[in-house]
Amino acid sequence: MTVPLRTPRLMLRAYRADDAAFVRDLYARAEVQRYIGDGTQRVSSDGQAREKIRGWDQGYAHEPVLGVWAIVDPVGALAGTLLLKPIPDSGTNTATDVEVGWHLHPRAWGRGYATEAARAVLAHAFEHGQDRVVAVTHPANRASQAVCRRLGMTHRGLSRAYYDAECALFELRAPTAHEGEAA
Ligand SMILES: CC(C)(COP(=O)(O)OP(=O)(O)OC[C@H]1O[C@@H](n2cnc3c(N)ncnc32)[C@H](O)[C@@H]1OP(=O)(O)O)[C@@H](O)C(=O)NCCC(=O)NCCS
Repeated sequence: MTVPLRTPRLMLRAYRADDAAFVRDLYARAEVQRYIGDGTQRVSSDGQAREKIRGWDQGYAHEPVLGVWAIVDPVGALAGTLLLKPIPDSGTNTATDVEVGWHLHPRAWGRGYATEAARAVLAHAFEHGQDRVVAVTHPANRASQAVCRRLGMTHRGLSRAYYDAECALFELRAPTAHEGEAA
């Protein structure tokens, strides 16, 4: 279930059916889609957006920790999406690891919202027993790689481990697991 979370400036909550116009606007944009997978997440109608929201709702209904959050800014406007989800392994239909991801509306770029929202979701993940979270970015997606670095994620170089594609791979371990390793 996508549990509500708060950050100093933002509210994170599950998407609702009446967010469809925003979801369509966000996922129809070329500048948002530019580095996201193979374009299959593109949305061009409110109906498709409602379907996407329904899919998230059902997909995460029985997940205690994972989720897809709508990011709400300080004036109550939707700013984008924060995801904590299973990441598909390359070459199989399995997903053994968990990824964090961010899709913000261009009007919300350059304000630190992606990093702030992701920090809260990662804390939530680690508090609930997740010991490692990865992020994969298109090798050319410098803005997304900067978010990973701001979050303190470690760059593991280029990898084809996920999505049958070459990505810049970042990872972050739970603070306790990390300290345990260092000891
Ligand atoms: C990737 C993406 C989320 C990055 O957004 P972003 O706004 O650059 O990232 P952040 O939220 O961390 O914001 C950091 C910027 O806000 C600025 N900022 C302004 N006010 C700030 C504040 N109060 N606190 C922190 N940062 C602030 C920072 O200086 C930084 O600007 P800079 O990049 O010019 O140095 C955004 O480009 C996006 O949604 N792209 C499309 C989807 C996508 O590609 N997703 C990634 C798939 S892997």
